[in-house]
This record gives sequence, C-alpha cells and structure tokens, in this order.
Amino acid sequence: MLGRWVSLSVGLLAFSGSALAIGQATCVSFSQSSSTFPIVSNGVATPILLSEDEWGGVQRAAGDFAMDIHRVTGVMPSLLNVTQSNSSLAGTQAIIVGTLGQSSLIGEVVNNTGLNVSSVEGHWEAFMTREVSNPLPGISSAYVMIGADKRGTIYAMYDHSEQIGVSPWYWWADVPVKTNSEIYAASSGCAHGSPTVQYRGIFLNDEAPALTDWAMVRFTNGTGAPLTGSPFNHYFYTSLFELMLRMKANYLWPAMWASAFGVDDLLNQPLANWYGIVMGTSHEEPIMRSIPVEWDLFGIGPWDYSTNKEHIYPFWVEGAERGAPYENMFTVGMRGDGDEPLSGGQDIQLLEQIISDQRTILSDTFPGVNVTTIPQMWCLYKEVLGYYEDGMTVPDDIALLWTDDNYGNIERLPLVSERTRTGGAGVYYHYDYVGSPRNYKWIVSSQLAKTYEQMSLATARNATRIWIVNVGDLKPYEMETEFFITYGWDTSLWNYDNLDSFVTAWAQREFSLSSEDATTVAGIIANVTRFNSNCKPELLNATTFSLTNYREAQNMLAMWEATNASATAIQAKLPESVLPAYFQLVYHPVQVSYTLANMWIAAGMNNLRASQAFLSANYYADLVENLFEQDWNLEVEYDSQLDGKWAHMMSQTHTLYVYWQEPYSNAMPPVSWQQPYKQALAGAMRLAIEDSEGAWPGDNQYDCAAGYSCPNPTVTIDPYVPEGNRYFIVGAGGPAPFNWTATTNVSWLILSPSSGYVTPNAPEQYVYASVDWTQLENTTSVTAFVNFNATAANQPMMSQQVYFTANYTAAPSNFTGFVEGDGTVSMEAIHAARNTSVDGITWTELPGYGRTLSAVTPWPRGGDELNFTVGTGPSIEYDFYTFNTIGDGGNISVTAYVSPSLNSLGPDRPLAIGMQVDSDEPQVSYYVPNATPGSLPDAWNQWASENIITVPMNFTADPGAHTLTVWMIEPTVVLQKIVIDTGGVLPSYLGPPESIRV
Ligand SMILES: *[C@@H]1O[C@H](CO)[C@@H](O)[C@H](O)[C@H]1NC(C)=O
Repeated sequence: MLGRWVSLSVGLLAFSGSALAIGQATCVSFSQSSSTFPIVSNGVATPILLSEDEWGGVQRAAGDFAMDIHRVTGVMPSLLNVTQSNSSLAGTQAIIVGTLGQSSLIGEVVNNTGLNVSSVEGHWEAFMTREVSNPLPGISSAYVMIGADKRGTIYAMYDHSEQIGVSPWYWWADVPVKTNSEIYAASSGCAHGSPTVQYRGIFLNDEAPALTDWAMVRFTNGTGAPLTGSPFNHYFYTSLFELMLRMKANYLWPAMWASAFGVDDLLNQPLANWYGIVMGTSHEEPIMRSIPVEWDLFGIGPWDYSTNKEHIYPFWVEGAERGAPYENMFTVGMRGDGDEPLSGGQDIQLLEQIISDQRTILSDTFPGVNVTTIPQMWCLYKEVLGYYEDGMTVPDDIALLWTDDNYGNIERLPLVSERTRTGGAGVYYHYDYVGSPRNYKWIVSSQLAKTYEQMSLATARNATRIWIVNVGDLKPYEMETEFFITYGWDTSLWNYDNLDSFVTAWAQREFSLSSEDATTVAGIIANVTRFNSNCKPELLNATTFSLTNYREAQNMLAMWEATNASATAIQAKLPESVLPAYFQLVYHPVQVSYTLANMWIAAGMNNLRASQAFLSANYYADLVENLFEQDWNLEVEYDSQLDGKWAHMMSQTHTLYVYWQEPYSNAMPPVSWQQPYKQALAGAMRLAIEDSEGAWPGDNQYDCAAGYSCPNPTVTIDPYVPEGNRYFIVGAGGPAPFNWTATTNVSWLILSPSSGYVTPNAPEQYVYASVDWTQLENTTSVTAFVNFNATAANQPMMSQQVYFTANYTAAPSNFTGFVEGDGTVSMEAIHAARNTSVDGITWTELPGYGRTLSAVTPWPRGGDELNFTVGTGPSIEYDFYTFNTIGDGGNISVTAYVSPSLNSLGPDRPLAIGMQVDSDEPQVSYYVPNATPGSLPDAWNQWASENIITVPMNFTADPGAHTLTVWMIEPTVVLQKIVIDTGGVLPSYLGPPESIRV
C-alpha cells in the first residue's frame, strides 16, 4: 500500500515553470493542454465546492487552499457550501473537495459519476484527485479531491498547494510564493495511498531559550500563560499545525519544559483536533498531562506511584477525560521525577500495575469503546528499555516506541518475534538533545544520509507505526524535519542513492534555483551537516582537530572556507525576495558554524604558539576575539531580519561548554598573550616544524623526551606522503623584524619560499619543503641539512639547523592499490579493489555518509536471520603496499572506522565485522559490547561524541603487496574508512588522510 499510485516522480522536473513539490506525484501545470482542468485560467478561478457536513478541519484547510491559489495567481476562488440541489449556483465547472463517509456532497458525486474510490476508501490518510464529468446537476466537469478521511482530504489540498508554488515553509522560513497567472491540474489527477508511517510527528523540546523567547514576543503580550508563563498558546500552535499538515505530519508532542498544552491555553487541545493533529505527550508524560509542569501545579504529594497512587490515579483520570473529545495517542507507563528513572529501582511489577491502571482509566473514560482500539504508546527510553528487556510485558495493542541513543543511533528495533504486535512499533529520534555527553541544540548537526540509514532500518524492521523526531526549537532544523516526515510519508520513494535529489528539489522549491545552483546548495548542506556531525559544535574545543598532524585543522578550515565561499556566491545571485529564506536555511548555518569552528581552531593555534614563544600567538588571540564578536553579529543579523520576525530564535548559547549542560552565557575560549615588547629568550627568530608541538631554538617540552638540550629537529618525508611536502614555520620571537633565509646542502630539496621578512605585523611564514625524487631513485634514506638564518637589526645573526630525511620508497610498477606513505595506509571504504556479493548482498556505498567521504554497508540488509560466519559472507577487498612494519617487528595494525551504530538487532545479534590480511586467519570483532539492559556500553560517550567507533586488529605482514578483506558478519555495520598503521600513525580526530593510490 506504499505509494502505489506514484509513478516515482521523486523531486521535480528540472525546467522552469514546472510544479515544485518534493516526494509526491506531479499533477499541476501552468499552461493548458487537452488533458488539463483549469484551476485559474484567463483570470478566472474555478470555484471550490464543499459540503456543510464536511469536517471543520477540511473546511479550514480549503480556506488555505483558496488563499494559496490567490497567493500564486492574485485571483481568489470562491469557496461554497453546496448541495446536490443547488450545485448549479457554482457554474458549469468546479473543484469539489470532500471526505468519503463525511461529506454528503462527495457521496453524491461518487454516486452520480460511478467513480471508483476503492483505492482510497478505508485507507488511512489516502487521497485521490481527478477530473470527472457531470458530477452534479448543472456542473459539466469538475476536479474532485477526495480523501479517505479528514487528513486525507487536507493532504490532497496541501499537496496541490505545494505544487502550485506555496512551500510548506512560506511563513516559517519566509519562502516566497512562486507566482503564475494560470494554474491547471492534470485531468488524471494525483493520488496517494496510506503513508508508510501511520503517525509522523515532531517533538518541540529543549525549547528554551530560543523558541520560548521568540514565541513570547511573537504570540503573547509579554507575559505568557497565567499558571506557567508559557508562550505556547493557540496562536503559536495554529501556525505550527498548519506547517505540520502542509508537510504531511500528523502527530505532535508539544513543548513541555515550562508548558502544559492542555492548561496554558484551553483552545490548544480543541484546535489541534479541529486542524487534524493527533496530540501525544512525550515519553515521560503519561495520559496527556504535561510532566512535571502539571504535576507541580496540581498534584498532591510525591510523583511516586508506589506511595502516592491515591493522588496520581485521579490526576491521570483528569488527563484522560480532558483529552477524550479529541484525537490522541496516549502515552502510557511512567518515569520518575525530572525525566529520571522511577524511584525504587527496576520495579517491573509496579510498572505493569501502572499500565494496567492506566488502561482501566482509558476504559472508564471511553465507555463502550474497546480499550485495545484506543491509540496508546509506551516509549522504551533509557532505563525503560531495561524493564522491557528484563521481561516486562505490556498489552499487545500498545505501540512500542523504540528510541535512539539521543545521538541518532537507534538502540534497538523490533525482532521478528516482536513484529506481530497489533500495536506495532515506532522510533523516537533526535535532531536536538539535552543531556550527556553534551547538549546539542544550537545549529543543524545531523546528516541526512545517517537519518535515512537509521530510519530505513526502522522501516525494514516494521517500526513504522510512529516516527517522532525531537526538533528542539524547530528552527534551524527545517529541511531535516521535512525530510524525516517526507520519508515517513512514503519510504518507498527514497533510497541511499537519491537523497541528494531531496536536497536539490528542496533548494529549487525554496530558492527557485537552477538545477546547477541547487546542486551547489546540496553540496553546501552536505558539508555543513557533515562537519557539524563529525563533532557537534557544542563539543568542539581548541584541540579537537590536530593543529600539527596531517594539516587537519588547516584542512578543516579550508573546507569551511570553500563552503562559505560557495554559500556566499549563491547568495549574491539571489533576488531580494529569496534572501530571508536563504539566510535562514543555508547562509546563517554555514556562517555561524564556520565562525565557531574557526574560533576554536584559532584558540588552539593561540595556545600552541604561546607555548612555542611565537609572537604570532597574539595574531591568533586577535582572531579569536574577532570571531567571537562575529558570532554575536550573526545572531544580531538573524534577529534583525524582516523587522525582527525571528528575534531570539538563535539565542541558544553555544561557546565554551564545560560539561553536558549549556553554558549560561557565551564565553570566549581562553587565549593568552605574548608580551609584544620583549624578545623570546632564544632570540628574534622562532622555528616550528610539521608534526611537532616543539619549537626551536632553545628548550621546549616537545622538542625531545628530556625537554631540554634537545638535538636539532628532524623532518622526514617519503614519496607517498599524501600532502606531497613538509612545512616549517618561521616566526617572530619578539618585536624585532628580521630577514631570514633557508639554505640546504643538497640539490634534491626544494624550499619555497627560501627567504623572507618577518615582522610583528606578519609574524609567521610557512616554508614548504619538497623533494625531487628523480635524484634519489634507488637510494634508501638520505639526510640533508636546512639552515635557517635570521638577521635582525643590532643583533648578531642567529641560525637554526634542521635535519631533513628523505626515505625513498617505490611500489612495483605492476602494483595497483594504496601505497604506504608516512608509515600509514589510509583508505576510504568505497575505494575497494574488489567487492564480492553473497546471497545478493553487496557492500554498497552510502554516498555522503559519515565523517570523510562516504560509507559502505551490506545491502540489501536482508532479513534478521541473515548473518554469516567469517569468510562466508559478502566481502570487500583492498589492495595495499607496505614498506615498513610497526617497530620493524613484522606487525601492522588495521583499524576499521565504523559508524557508532548500536546492537539494534537485539542482544543476541551484536554488531560484528571480520577482517583478514592475505590468507591469514580472519579475525572478528564484536565491537559493541552488550550493556546492562537500559544502559549503554562504557565507551558510548566517546563513540557518540566522535561519531565513530574504531575497531583495531593486529596482523603480521612483511613489507610488500597485501590484500585486506573485510567480511560481513552482521547486517547494519557501516564502514567508513580503514587505517593501517605500519608505524607512523599520529594522533588526529578524523584519522590520517587517504593514502596515495596507484
Ligand atoms: C460551510 O459550512 C460550515 C458548517 O456550517 C461552515 O463552518 C463553513 O464556514 C461553511 N463554509 C462556507 C465557505 O460557507
């Protein structure tokens, strides 16, 4: 039943004038043909007919639909309630909107035309539209829009709204409406069956300061609700409900930090129902009451069922009765106070009693209704999962809501034995989080490819009754939220290899870009989300990226700079009307993320240079200050756009976290200053080298083990060092400007530049050293000198000598594959030599996924039963050539970089990967140890923070050509990169850069 009418027209057609809609069939055009029906033609809008007995929510949405037609064409269609007997009032053509079983008008139309509605009838949220002849007396032709139920009809209209040029985000992200003077619908219409995921929802959470302060200004007179101070009243919610329905979401967990949906504004609940939004409450808020807010206001005694059932039971009765008139999904179960475990430890019996009592309450509240038909959900969050794993059972009709680890990795999914539950299963996912190891609630930091990979797993494991994502303040997760909902709407449309088309279609819809520019924007989005998910901005510190090894920090900065430059170039092309949307959705996230990353790296360079007695420490300190200022300026820029429409929305603090909880103000990273008047003890010139934190001349703890009287520095290089050269940094050690030269005693060493002038205003200079290897063929190791000489006025000439060792290596000419350089072989997972399928399963690329390039995973994933013993499953092979072994001892270590997925197939099927070098015995690692049910493995904090798990194995392999084989053991293993250490691997965040391939 998944999207079976959709002819896979994902995205949009790439020529202008076409309809702009994502993940849906296209049935709108802007010019007439013999197979179109006029919506607006020749300045005349076809009237829209409804029935008086139609759902209020459909009546309301029809008003939006008419308004959308007006927004696009400037012509307002009339909206009429008609009956069979007065339908001719409308004229000879009409758009007829109605819900099967509700609208008597649509019943008559179906009757009169003999229209076959079996594909819609009885199918949750399904709809169909098409042109029919003689539907009603006096009307010769009509475009009917028929929903199976209230939301089916609403979605039919909003589906068309998006196609005619009104983005779901027209208000929430200021996306301009694309105007056209005429609109036509294809006579054959559009249709969609039941969505894959029945309840597609968002959770407004961790909603202060940003969303709360913004809503306070926008929707209240500055005071908020009487009892709670909450700004989330019906003005706020009606605009949110509209957005949700336009996106085809249907389920909401309302803001709950200092808010109580049912109390703050008595219109909230009835309005949700009228709009057609199914209300729920979060995992810790049973029976439609906000916890702890409502309990603190109205509860008596402790929030502890074992001692205070007397007061908690009637509290829930009130929640059930208050919600009874409306469409809800009742959360059942209970957590302790403050989103903590229940007091008294793992008391399964107590929790079973609680749920049984809650069912009694529901039965009493809905007399005559079978309790198993009332939508209920039990969320297996944190310790609650432990109760379940320890054998707690709940009635079959309650949906089990599985969760991620708060960092986007689903902890557990339904096993085969759990898939027949009538209540089904779902997933609670996070784009935003407050808790350990660290909050992330400022800026987008989730990769689309990762979300897809995890939620496709949920789809394959039948966890499709409920999908709900924690969206924090909602902005700035606009696109990611729409993707989550759109994917759940029809999972059959999206695959690992067409996710980019979601982003390009989105960019074209929001910014009216050419397909080329849309592709650029997709690249920008891919970069921002990759960089921010590699290390959440909240987790960045001054040494996250290595400042000395692999040019890691410099490369990060260069990538940020390029991303920022292309975001700026796109911005420069855009018409004024598109700028606010582009700023909110693309430019601001890029700018603030780049600024923050740059600030942290500059802080690291400041600290490093200060420890090296480089005056350039002060340059970096200034840079940190400027970027810290820039960070504020960007917040002001966000606040001041559109006369303050979004003021406070980016007010989340985000610098200098010291523990998991947010800092209460933004503070600048610590920097230090060199006295600019005083020269370093060793003289005017300072020298530093790549791969070292040391500095010369003089003593430094990193110059050698003793830290004093160290030898001259040595730099080594070989032909397969990926960077192709090495650098030195010549820097000022004080106020005296100096001329410097770099000279060498050999002809094969090229220094660039080989002389220069360093002053306090240009306090450091990089000198690159490369080698003419043709002169060194058939040597092994040759060492040259480089002499750095400096002359400053009124000071004796000073000099520092450096040893430069060139290790000549060469892979045989008939070898193809990766070649060791710098004591390392680093390989992106997709760059394999051979890939062997077994049972139709192949290690397949997930483009764009992960920290550096992409990832591979066994695909299709196969059923749950499908796993292999090492050596029998799908394999992927990498050819590599080595010259060294660790300590010349014949050993190498091979480290697989895998995604921090968890044992979602259950404790009996832990994730595992096999690796083998040549024909040696393969090794297997079960790298995610099973933790006590309800908790996470000890190493999880690190995995989640670094967004990677490293799986090392040791092998014996003499220098020469080798093959590494990676074996599938279990599905859902996601391999990003492999690093082989032959003795040279240095510390870094992302691992060594990819080696040279010949
Ligand atoms: C149609 O009738 C309903 C129910 O009385 C009413 O709420 C709605 O405003 C009417 N719509 C129009 C366009 O008159």
